[in-house]
Amino acid sequence: MTRYEEQRRFLKSNFNEFKHIKTDKIKGLAQPPIVKLVDSKSSLIIDLPKVSKDVVCKENIFDCIDQRRSTRFYSEENLSLNELSYLLWATQGITGMNKNGLTLRTVPCSGATHTFETYLIIMRVEGIQQGIYRYLPVEHKLSFMFELAELEQKIDAITLDQPFVPNFAKKASVLFAWSTTPYRSEWKYDISAHKKILIDVGHVCQNLYLSSESIGAGACAIGIYDQKLIDEILELDGEEEFIIYLGAVGKKRK
Ligand SMILES: Cc1cc2nc3c(=O)[nH]c(=O)nc-3n(C[C@H](O)[C@H](O)[C@H](O)COP(=O)(O)O)c2cc1C
Repeated sequence: MTRYEEQRRFLKSNFNEFKHIKTDKIKGLAQPPIVKLVDSKSSLIIDLPKVSKDVVCKENIFDCIDQRRSTRFYSEENLSLNELSYLLWATQGITGMNKNGLTLRTVPCSGATHTFETYLIIMRVEGIQQGIYRYLPVEHKLSFMFELAELEQKIDAITLDQPFVPNFAKKASVLFAWSTTPYRSEWKYDISAHKKILIDVGHVCQNLYLSSESIGAGACAIGIYDQKLIDEILELDGEEEFIIYLGAVGKKRK
């Protein structure tokens, strides 16, 4: 098999094979937690403002879709905490529960497995100190993880070799970094989980693009990054949980 053929297999549906597999769910193994837990006693938890439409300046969905572009140049203006709250809700906010106790969110997801956690590298958000945070979707709060020394140099090192605008990510207000915990999907979908996870995360980033557009900000997806470095910086084990996609956001230049 050529390299291409081998990789293309991943893009195809393997449901006929999957049908015959006894998944961990069928075997009766315990379902993994639907979100990563946080120790609220030892962590600094930050309330996010209630999500409000007031932050939206471009309400028309047609205009948001039509005018969205990957944005790699940003203004000096910071994002407000209200705007960050809105972007987090738009990308991973919980809007319901299904009958199996799984979360339903602003983005679709295969089998409502929602394998993602949202880490934020915050550079310029009003009222929030620079550093690393994690979104807690159930509570709609932020967990402050730690400050990061030499933040800008670290972002350059993570988002290496950018093809269009070198080193743009550090100039954003916030860098979203989505991790996946594949077992949340593997438990149910076994060998079919992995293709689904990649499709799922595309929906998340598209909502980041459109919600950013609606508040006068611009987003840029980032698929070129140093896997090992970002996992190490965010203290992820790189096997059970690892980063799969990034998105930079900042206010647009007028
Ligand atoms: C999966 C994916 C990965 C991407 N990775 C990067 C990246 O690492 N750096 C970058 O500058 N743009 C990245 N982009 C943005 C694309 O370059 C951009 O979407 C494309 O050039 C089309 O431009 P538009 O989004 O303005 O329509 C990525 C987009 C996608 C969907």
